[in-house]
Amino acid sequence: MGINILPLFCYLFVETLSYSEISVATDMLRQFQAISDVDNGTLVSVGKVFQLGFFAPGNSNRRYLGIWYNNIPSQAVVWVANRDNPLDDSSGVLRIENDGNLVLLGQTERVAWSTNTVNLSSINIVAQLLDTGNLVLRDERNGNSENYVWQSFDHPCDAMLAGMKLGWDLRIGLNRYLTSWKSADDPSPGDFSYGIEIQGLAQIVLRKGSVNMFRSGPWNGVEFNGITVSSNVPFIPKVINNSEEMYFQFSLSNESTLTMSELSYSGALQRLVWDNSYLRWHVMSALPRDQCESYSQCGPNAICTVSEARICSCLTGYMPKFPQDWEMLICGGGCIRNTPLNCSSGEGFIELEGVKMPDLLQFLVLPSLPLEECRLECLKNCSCTAYANSGATGGGTGCLLWFADLIDMKKLTLSGSQKLYIRAGASDLVSTSDSNKKKMVVVVLTISATIAVVFVIASCIIWMLILPLEQIGLRRAQRQPKHF
Ligand SMILES: *[C@@H]1O[C@H](CO)[C@@H](O)[C@H](O)[C@H]1NC(C)=O
Ligand SMILES: *[C@@H]1O[C@H](CO)[C@@H](O)[C@H](O)[C@H]1NC(C)=O
Ligand SMILES: *[C@@H]1O[C@H](CO)[C@@H](O)[C@H](O)[C@H]1NC(C)=O
Ligand SMILES: *[C@@H]1O[C@H](CO)[C@@H](O)[C@H](O)[C@H]1NC(C)=O
Ligand SMILES: *[C@@H]1O[C@H](CO)[C@@H](O)[C@H](O)[C@H]1NC(C)=O
Ligand SMILES: *[C@@H]1O[C@H](CO)[C@@H](O)[C@H](O)[C@H]1NC(C)=O
Repeated sequence: MGINILPLFCYLFVETLSYSEISVATDMLRQFQAISDVDNGTLVSVGKVFQLGFFAPGNSNRRYLGIWYNNIPSQAVVWVANRDNPLDDSSGVLRIENDGNLVLLGQTERVAWSTNTVNLSSINIVAQLLDTGNLVLRDERNGNSENYVWQSFDHPCDAMLAGMKLGWDLRIGLNRYLTSWKSADDPSPGDFSYGIEIQGLAQIVLRKGSVNMFRSGPWNGVEFNGITVSSNVPFIPKVINNSEEMYFQFSLSNESTLTMSELSYSGALQRLVWDNSYLRWHVMSALPRDQCESYSQCGPNAICTVSEARICSCLTGYMPKFPQDWEMLICGGGCIRNTPLNCSSGEGFIELEGVKMPDLLQFLVLPSLPLEECRLECLKNCSCTAYANSGATGGGTGCLLWFADLIDMKKLTLSGSQKLYIRAGASDLVSTSDSNKKKMVVVVLTISATIAVVFVIASCIIWMLILPLEQIGLRRAQRQPKHF
């Protein structure tokens, strides 16, 4: 019996010897070092911005390995390693295995989480928590960010930090996107996701399961149409689109700003900034911002205007599909054409400015086609319902064509430079040009009225200027000594 136990004893003895616990806060874990939950082991980034350690979220007793902002009173977890594989006790140990992978072990050395990357046994691997909140695995001799063997920024949870890439590494087919927690007590992946779709043109999409909740307009080379980013904020957005990568990223104008974009478990994408005076997170913005940003709020071929009492209206040339529902402000059925298109002569386009481009469901991008040819291309095909410049750079380049229904359009508060041209039949074009004529008449009347008012005011001013002079003249006349 004793002889049988000996190898196990020796193994445990050697194991204990070979992994030394880190007790002093450091930013780096080397091979044969470990941090454990029972010892409150942590890594702290060099500038003390972030901390990695074990925690139990909310009212839960389950233990997770995570990263949070260091030194602020409200715990803000930005990343969780074993989010769907919690530990039931404080047995958790984090260490680098012989093969170079970073692993989280629980009771009886059960692997609760692992970087599970390639076989790295030959290199000198270290894990390091950076001041950006990125946990990286790298060759100790090589700190170059291009050569990270693994990084937590490639495996986001519910939070996006400055410098993190949201989107695609096309070389390896990696898509980075946020997934919400299930609840405040449970970091396992919830229903909501937030990421970049790249079918033809990039769009940001927030989903519940497979259902779209919010969509930005397509990337136009300058911005995601529909999400106008104010320049007066600490975030500097950037999008990279080349043959290797397609991602969205933000940096900070002041690097000491503590901030993150978080996809809450209720499905809102919140931009949070730490408020040092009130010691709390301040919500700078949240998506969706209003009713009109709920995906396809008004149904097909309608446009949503948040400032209107009736937020939904049909596009010109369309009428409500279910008029009775529409009357009761139930707009999901959307709008249908007054008269079907038949490619007859006289068909043309109505220009809309300051709208979020329709969703890319059935569409075509012709990158080098000028706008006038884009128009002809659309006219040629009876099922083409709209066209636009695909890019906003240099006053507009490229051709984007939509076929069939136009979905999820919104009137933007800041009118963008991108214009959308909606196909309309000859009769619809006549009625809009009539209404334009009416507008012209109104303008002329307004101008005439204005001129009249200006004339009256001017006369009054002149009269008031002249009046005192006359009175002064009069008084002078009165003061003249009466010599004669
Ligand atoms: C770990 O932290 C807890 C709570 O702060 C404390 O009670 C405990 O003594 C600490 N354990 C060690 C080994 O420092
Ligand atoms: C990793 O490489 C070593 C040495 O080449 C080999 O012995 C080991 O089986 C490999 N492990 C895995 C998981 O492939
Ligand atoms: C990226 O840019 C290329 C041209 O530079 C364009 O053809 C492509 O559609 C763009 N991709 C996305 C996803 O925006
Ligand atoms: C950056 O933010 C910190 C903390 O809020 C502040 O003390 C500092 O003055 C800011 N720096 C600049 C250049 O604005
Ligand atoms: C095409 O539609 C217009 C308007 O609805 C109609 O006047 C015309 O007769 C139609 N032409 C054909 C060939 O059906
Ligand atoms: C019109 O465009 C659609 C979508 O690209 C295409 O499937 C269809 O063949 C085109 N029709 C004609 C007549 O070109």
